[in-house]
Amino acid sequence: MQKSKKILVTGGAGYIGAYVNKLLQLEGYDTVVLDNLYSGERNSVHKGFFIEGDFGDEFLMNQIFSDHRIDGVMHFAAYTSVGESYLNPMKYYANNVSNTISLLNTMIKNGVNHFVFSSSAAVFGIPLVCPIKESAVMMPINPYGETKKIIEKILRDYRTAYGLSSSSLRYFNAAGGDPAEEIIAKRTHVHNLIPIAFRSILNNTPLTIYGTDYETNDGTCIRDYIHVHDIATAHILALEQIFENPGCTDYNLGIGKGFSVKEVIDVVEKVTGHVVPYQIGPRRQGDPPILIAGSEKAQKNLGWNPLYTDLESMVAHTWNTTVREELFSELSG
Ligand code: UFG
Repeated sequence: MQKSKKILVTGGAGYIGAYVNKLLQLEGYDTVVLDNLYSGERNSVHKGFFIEGDFGDEFLMNQIFSDHRIDGVMHFAAYTSVGESYLNPMKYYANNVSNTISLLNTMIKNGVNHFVFSSSAAVFGIPLVCPIKESAVMMPINPYGETKKIIEKILRDYRTAYGLSSSSLRYFNAAGGDPAEEIIAKRTHVHNLIPIAFRSILNNTPLTIYGTDYETNDGTCIRDYIHVHDIATAHILALEQIFENPGCTDYNLGIGKGFSVKEVIDVVEKVTGHVVPYQIGPRRQGDPPILIAGSEKAQKNLGWNPLYTDLESMVAHTWNTTVREELFSELSG
């Protein structure tokens, strides 16, 4: 019988990494989960060998690669707040770029040649054309997007020079939660529209809609929301692809359909049965009016088909897997 492959999942206690770890295990992979628990939650990791630590710790990484026969790395660990990346770019370049380079170099030294990278739609900045295909020009408008673009470029160079195989997966707006409700998280570190809408219900404090004067149907920004389950299945398909056909690839992950901020609020109200208090504010710096993914490449080359294309499921799965008391106490405490 063929021995199962062992995957190192950095950031595997986080929002997306924890669910991918669960799916990898269900697919028969062995996993080693590395997380410094900065935003990840230990009890989100139900299976696999858990190590609390930092992927930027070169000594630790060398130790992990010599102790475990790692076949591939899925790299989720990163700082992900666009707003914070404007205020503290040093933190973002140090972790998302320098530490990732150190991880890649340690992998190469240890003969680990397969890497799946959590990239982002933020690499595109304000797109000239929607839906956004992989071939679209990458012009990030914030330090966070820049960090992801830099690593994608490094991965292309490392493929040519060192034969490292990689797949960069550019998530559009990640949403949802474990549909089986096994991974239940506090999500106090997730500062995106859907959890913010939950917080405004729980604390009865208004959410601010950042701008109602965009050239969209209702004047609010439009985003392509993609369920964590579908992000996870894309990771496994991308991993299998680079094991079978070594190379350096990239894929945009979205459902190809957009929802406005107001539509998201309507769905949150419908799913939770609560009114979302909100107020209208000015535009937020660096918000593209519309972001919609062109994901045909992932569908064609990976055979990826998003299962959840309705916002109701994404909101319901987020609501059902969020420890709501924590969201409440975060603001009231
Ligand atoms: N929004 C509000 N009020 C809020 C929060 C968000 O109106 O309190 C709006 C934003 O202006 C935006 C939409 O809701 O139009 C979605 O905002 P999020 O902050 O949830 O997500 P972003 O689209 O800004 O960014 C997300 C991830 C990034 C990633 C990007 C890629 O957070 O890491 O998607 O598309 F880079």
